[in-house]
Amino acid sequence: MAARTYVGAVDQGTTGTRFIVFDHEGQVVSNAYETHEQIYPEPGWVEHDPMEIWENTKSVITQALGQAGISPDQLEAIGVTNQRETTVLWDADSGRPVHNAIVWQDRRTTERVEELEEDGKTEEIRAKTGLEPDAYFSATKAEWLLEEGDPIKMERSRPADVRDRAERGEVLFGTIDTWLIYNLTGQHITEVTNASRTMLYNIHDLEWDDDLLAEFSVPREMLPEVRPSSDDATYGSTDPEGFLEAEVPVAGALGDQQAALFGQTCFDAGNAKNTYGTGSFFLMNTGNEAVGSDHGLLTTIAFQRSGEDVQYALEGAIFVTGAAVEWLEDVDLIDDPAETAELARSVDSTDGVYVVPAFTGLGAPHWDQRARGTIVGMTRGTRKEHIVRATLESIAYQTRDVAEAMEADSGIEMTSLKVDGGAVKNNYLCQLQSDIIASEIVRPVVDETTALGSAYAAGLAVGYWSDVDELRDNWQVDREFEPEMDPEVADSRYDRWNDAIERSLDWARE
Ligand code: G3P
Repeated sequence: MAARTYVGAVDQGTTGTRFIVFDHEGQVVSNAYETHEQIYPEPGWVEHDPMEIWENTKSVITQALGQAGISPDQLEAIGVTNQRETTVLWDADSGRPVHNAIVWQDRRTTERVEELEEDGKTEEIRAKTGLEPDAYFSATKAEWLLEEGDPIKMERSRPADVRDRAERGEVLFGTIDTWLIYNLTGQHITEVTNASRTMLYNIHDLEWDDDLLAEFSVPREMLPEVRPSSDDATYGSTDPEGFLEAEVPVAGALGDQQAALFGQTCFDAGNAKNTYGTGSFFLMNTGNEAVGSDHGLLTTIAFQRSGEDVQYALEGAIFVTGAAVEWLEDVDLIDDPAETAELARSVDSTDGVYVVPAFTGLGAPHWDQRARGTIVGMTRGTRKEHIVRATLESIAYQTRDVAEAMEADSGIEMTSLKVDGGAVKNNYLCQLQSDIIASEIVRPVVDETTALGSAYAAGLAVGYWSDVDELRDNWQVDREFEPEMDPEVADSRYDRWNDAIERSLDWARE
């Protein structure tokens, strides 16, 4: 009897790297995870070591296969999904990064973005890329690395030399998908969803944009080829002489939020999901139409299959949700995120306390790079339980901010929302979310939808799954949460939330 076969997915996120092996029913067969160091060289700066990420990737692949006793030959394909926007430059000869990766959360290029706004570039950037100019995206990070990168990690070259070498295609640019595909297959390739987050890619023409490349002085020679998210031609294969000792095609990749949309089988216009990770990312598929936003959302590419047109999405990118719970741990208000539900439930309300976790500015729908974290409404009676509860509520309120923008932009009234990501294991949060946005929340059985989405993209490309209908059949509900809070109470609390947001924005204007 032929051995069973599987599809594997590398899920390279902000805090760690996971490899999951999925079977044909889309069920998790094995799963290994490793965290990597968060490097904060200066306030507001966030870096990762790309070599550590690659070492961890090899390690989790090996561990997950070992756990389940699966040989690499039983993998029909590998998919890649990744933290988006994070930018790496590396030397094509040695394969070594020339600097740490600059992470999506990093704020070092805030002033450069303000300059773009002053120079009247905002409309052009919005029109071409669907993005709101912000230090979040890759363009200003690449520019910074080419101009000012501190040569700590530069083994052979000073910054001036890096630019010359980039112009000769000897130093390469990539987001994390590109870095991993390069290391897995030796090919310098990205795919459309990741390209759409660089602020260098025209999402209508599906080309790197010459004007934007000139604006940010990024040489075209250093850019990867852009391919579909699910690519029948495959990006390449792992090296049989390499760590896996097998030739496995790498055939699909998606930025992690688009991967979750795909894993939730949101294949049609109007389908939406919200993922609760470090931040939260609410995406609605808008089909083949790139819908522009009047309410602070991003227009972005949802996915592309070989031979098909791209599908677009509207996105509400919220920078800090799960990271706010991590912060509670950092400041010793909790020992473990699992405690938050019980602490929050132990009080009837926040007693008027609001936490706005704008630690890295505010993303959708406010887009204010200088907003900062704010706690308002504290009295002498405020206890840590109130602050913990207010922190969880901030996750639900920020989601309502983008849900309202989404309804206004799309004209579609939301009655049900699919959710995923680590935090949705917390029933309290799911119920709270349903109460605050007054709509049904649906949690699937497989909550690792990010990895699942990239496995689906890779598996479709190699014929492991024949069609998206097969994937729809795999999707199952774990639990639905219906609104229980009096809508008037929810609305009045949400009004106060908006007042708290104003305080956080005010701080930026000081
Ligand atoms: O845009 C940033 C996003 O892709 C990061 O996702 O899951 O690593 O927080 P995550």
